[in-house]
Formats: sequence, structure tokens, C-alpha cells
Amino acid sequence: MKDRLVTIGATVLMLAGFAFLGFLGWQWWQSRLPARYDVMAYGVVDRGGGAALPHAHFSVAAAKEPTGKPDVRMTLTAQKSRIRLASGKEVDAWTFNRRAPGPEIRLLRGQLLQVTLVNKDLADGVTIHWHGLDVPNAEDGVAGVTQDSVPPGGRFVYRFRPDQDGTFWYHTHQDASEGVGKGLFGALVILRYPRSLGYEATLPIHTFDGHAAIGTHDDVDRRRVPAGVPVRLRLINTDSSPVRLRLAGMKPVVVAIDGAEVKPAVVPAGEAIEIGAGGRYDIAFAMPDGVAGVEVVNSRAALLLSSTGTGELPASSKRPVFDPATRGPARPTLVGAKFDRTFELKITQKVGFLNGRPGRHWALNGKLYPRVPMFEVEKGDLVRINLINDSSGVHPMHLHGHHVLVLSRNRKAVSPWSTDTVEMLPHERYTVAFRANNPGVWMLHCHNLKHAAGGLSMHVMYAGATTPFRAGKSAHNDPE
Ligand code: C2O
Ligand code: CU
Repeated sequence: MKDRLVTIGATVLMLAGFAFLGFLGWQWWQSRLPARYDVMAYGVVDRGGGAALPHAHFSVAAAKEPTGKPDVRMTLTAQKSRIRLASGKEVDAWTFNRRAPGPEIRLLRGQLLQVTLVNKDLADGVTIHWHGLDVPNAEDGVAGVTQDSVPPGGRFVYRFRPDQDGTFWYHTHQDASEGVGKGLFGALVILRYPRSLGYEATLPIHTFDGHAAIGTHDDVDRRRVPAGVPVRLRLINTDSSPVRLRLAGMKPVVVAIDGAEVKPAVVPAGEAIEIGAGGRYDIAFAMPDGVAGVEVVNSRAALLLSSTGTGELPASSKRPVFDPATRGPARPTLVGAKFDRTFELKITQKVGFLNGRPGRHWALNGKLYPRVPMFEVEKGDLVRINLINDSSGVHPMHLHGHHVLVLSRNRKAVSPWSTDTVEMLPHERYTVAFRANNPGVWMLHCHNLKHAAGGLSMHVMYAGATTPFRAGKSAHNDPE
């Protein structure tokens, strides 16, 4: 009798074990990404409480460029190259025109830009995404969604007419976490007026192979600026984590955030600022009599301005205090507005399989990529998103093709600002709003590109949008 009980017990345990293994196996199997797939076919459609209206189908490829003769035309050739930082250190980089950062693109608001991307020798392909510019969907540069990645020997022409001015940047959106890290990016400055008064510098900050650099300066870049001249510095964080900058010897004022002008906001003299991944700050000040400049905290990379082009940066605090949310009085915004859709996007971590890999992965609304939500909107909608960071990571959430207005943080009204990237610190929550005015399929992802590659990536799609492009290994399209 006892023996029989033991046998039954063992059998039950064994069956339970098999069932569990079977369950794990099934989870593993169904987590694997197909070699070729339509990103639209995967996500779980979420309409944010709005209606599912009947609609005509349109292809993202149809949201195409303006016609006409370009005002600014250039070719960017992607290729492997060894670059030399100012200290003499050499780095193996992936470059545009053998430079990293790539050439700065400058144009006037309203001008037609035409960029021909050529891939010389990057085996995994390349694209160009215009970070922060609300371009037509077909120009957005997302491999597997708005185009195919450009293979070695191939080319792709981008054309658009920006209706924005400010500090932006461009970068590959094929294998972005690897490609951007290795140097496939550059600054993009759009001016409102043909001529700027005073002294201006564009400062893309990047870590090359463990070495922080401003442009290619991993040391002190000394420049000559006479006292009294108005100075504007365009700071761009092209890394995947926040960068801290010491602002020394000046009385800085933040005049633009993420390519959008803000009412000038004073940074207390001697304080530092922190810029989230992908973010841009434009700061302005009057050149003092002595030395002024910025330094990447805990590195040797710095820009130093003085009337003689010599000197040392004065000591100053490394602690960032400037906060865009409190840079001015809190103002409840869009309070009585009727939102057509309200979405919730919650970031957590979850144990499971991501493309066959077991582990603790990033999840969106409780799901691992690619079974993440797809937010469906209609043209004209006023859309609200509650972004919730229920994790201990920092997540700079970036929406393509639109600017969002930040309404609140941790349920408290902020001094609102318009941005393309909302940096969420651990356990923060934000409410943002945008007008759906740019039809297509648009990525919404974390700009810590490692996080994006680890699953923090999804799409906002306009009802009826379809894409002829496919993501996946055999399609050679992997935007993250
Ligand atoms: Cu700057 Cu989708 O990225
Ligand atoms: Cu993240």
C-alpha cells in the first residue's frame, strides 16, 4: 500500500515536472522572433479608450518627401574608419564621411534638405533617423518600419523641409545600440535666421570606447572669444545614459530644450546641469572677462573660452540642480481639455524569455517584446499618455514624429515644456500630451539604446497605417 502511494506520488511529481518543462519550452518557443516579421502584426492594439473607426488603409511609404529643388544637399557615406581624438588616442569607429561625430548639417527653417546616404562597408546596414524632427513618416529612417536598412553598396535619399528650428541630431536606426555607440551620428542645427549674433558652438557629447569627448575633444578644447560677446552653446547628449556638465565661469541661461525654445531659465551660477540620453540643451550667456566653459563631469573633456584662448576652467560644483519641470512656476495645462485617447505605458521588469533568452527583461504593460502594446490613434486626436516607470532604471522615453507637452510629474503640475524625449528617473511618472498630426507608424522607445534593444520599444500607429517593410534577421532590419 505504502509502496503504491510512493509510486503514485512520484508519478504525479514527474508529470508535473514534465508539464512545467513543457510550459517553459512553449514559452521559450513562442518568444522567438521570426526571421522576418511585420511589426504591425505583433503588438497588442490599444485604442486608449477611443473609437475604432472605419478607415482607409495607407502605406507609411506614401508619407513621402516634398518635391522641388533642394536648398541644402549632401552625401553621407557610412564606413568603418579609425578616428583620432584630440588627445591622440585612436578609436575604431563607424563613421559618416570618415568622421565621428559625422559632419554637422546646418540649414534654415523651411529649406528643403536632401541627404543621400551611401553605405560603403557596414555589413549590418545603416539608416538615418532625424532625432527630434517631425519629418514625414517615410523619411524617419527606421529600419524595418519606414525603410529597409541600406546594405553595403546601397544608397537611400532623404528629403524633408523642417518646420522647426533648434538643435537636433541624426543617427542610424539600424542596430542603433551598436551603430550609434560606435559613431554613426552627427549634429543637425536648424536656424530661424540666416545669421546668428555672437559666438556659437555645437557640442555633441559622446563616449568613444570609454573616453568621454565633446566633438572629438577628449581633452580641453580652448577657443578664443572676446569679453562681452553673446555666446550660445548647443549641447547634445548622444550617449545612452545621462551626462553631467559643469558650467564654470558664466551666468548661464537655458534658452531651448530638445530643439524647442523655452522662456529663458536661469541656471544658478556655478551649478551643473544633467542632460538625458538623446536630449539637447541650448545655453546662452554673455562672455565674461575671464575664462568660461563646460566640462563633462568626471572626465577630461571640456570646452574652454577666453579672450586669449588660454587659461584653466575655474572650479565649480558638479551637482546638477537645474530641473526643466521646476524651471518656472508650475502651471496646470490642458486641464479642461477633452482627450480623444488616454494611454498608459508602464515599464517594469519581468522574468521570462526575450527572443529565446531567459532572464529578467524590460516589459511594457507587463509584456515582453514583441507582444508590447501598439497605441492606435486617428489623425487630429488629442492624445494623452501616462508614462509610469515602475522600475529602478532611468528611462528616457522618445517618441518619433511628434513633440509631446509635459503636463505633470508624479501627479503634480510642472512648468510645461515641449519635448521629444522624456527622461524618467526611477519610479517617476509623467503625463504628456500630443496632437496626432503626422500620420504613419512611429516608434516610441527608450533612448537608452541598450534598453531599447532589450525590449523597451513599441509603436504609435495611425489607424489604417500599413508598412511594406519587414523587421527581422533575414530582412536585415533591426532598428534597435
Ligand atoms: Cu534618437 Cu528612435 O531615436
Ligand atoms: Cu530605458
